[in-house]
Amino acid sequence: MATTDDKTIVQNYFNAEGFDRWRRIYGGGEVNKVQLDIREGHQQTVDTVLSWFRADDNLEGRSICDAGCGVGSLSIPLAQMGAQVSGSDISAKMVGEAEDRAKQALGDANLPAFSVQDLEALSGQYDTVVCLDVLIHYPQEKAAEMIQHLSSLATNRVILSFAPKTLAYTLLKKVGDFFPGPSKATRAYLHREEDVIAALQKAGWQVERKGMTKTSFYFSRLLEAKRLPEGAVAPVSNADSQSAALAWISFALIAGLAVLAFWRIS
Ligand SMILES: C[S@@+](CC[C@H](N)C(=O)[O-])C[C@H]1O[C@@H](n2cnc3c(N)ncnc32)[C@H](O)[C@@H]1O
Repeated sequence: MATTDDKTIVQNYFNAEGFDRWRRIYGGGEVNKVQLDIREGHQQTVDTVLSWFRADDNLEGRSICDAGCGVGSLSIPLAQMGAQVSGSDISAKMVGEAEDRAKQALGDANLPAFSVQDLEALSGQYDTVVCLDVLIHYPQEKAAEMIQHLSSLATNRVILSFAPKTLAYTLLKKVGDFFPGPSKATRAYLHREEDVIAALQKAGWQVERKGMTKTSFYFSRLLEAKRLPEGAVAPVSNADSQSAALAWISFALIAGLAVLAFWRIS
């Protein structure tokens, strides 16, 4: 499926049945068991991010871009903690809900600036760019482009989460794919951690903190990356070293065959 299709499908979904579904999951009302599990898992991811900000104890006045902010589950507590938050989402419905929830929670005090925007069209500079549970909607190549773009907006730190592509989760997803359900309206892409780290390193970041949320139906890997110090070289990632090893093995094989062929001919 083409990437443009993924984006249009995702946008339409989060403006229609996806909006109702996720507004309920990210709310406090009654939901079914699976949705409750996802709600609790997602809240753990949000809480981990908030705990990192709390531990650093320097959030007051910092500019935070919450890309793909949904209904404001992270934007609102960050604003309550004193950050200058810009939350944006490709779905107008999600943004409308985020605005309502922010007004309820904050009144007029330090409201986040919400806007309807594709994260790839975002511009400006922010201390920190956060993107939670959005990359799952895009294939690796597109996710790498998105990471590259989000990185260009951050001066100090990037925090993102994704569904990790491990053997166990790949099998789990394959089993889940057999069953029809409302969440099947969009595709879910798992990402290899090495690929995400390689994309961050390419953009000049090094991973400093990692988190993982696992419940029965929700799993999300969380990475926080900071700027590499001036002149520093990113360590070679596993993905890079595996490619390099493969390249050397191929080279050795071809060279060996060439020597053998030359020896037979001569
Ligand atoms: C699973 S929700 C996560 C929402 C929020 N980040 C959170 O963790 O509460 C995914 C959100 O990403 C948004 N989204 C998907 N693709 C996007 C894009 N290209 N640009 C901006 N938002 C996007 C969707 O509209 C949806 O609100």
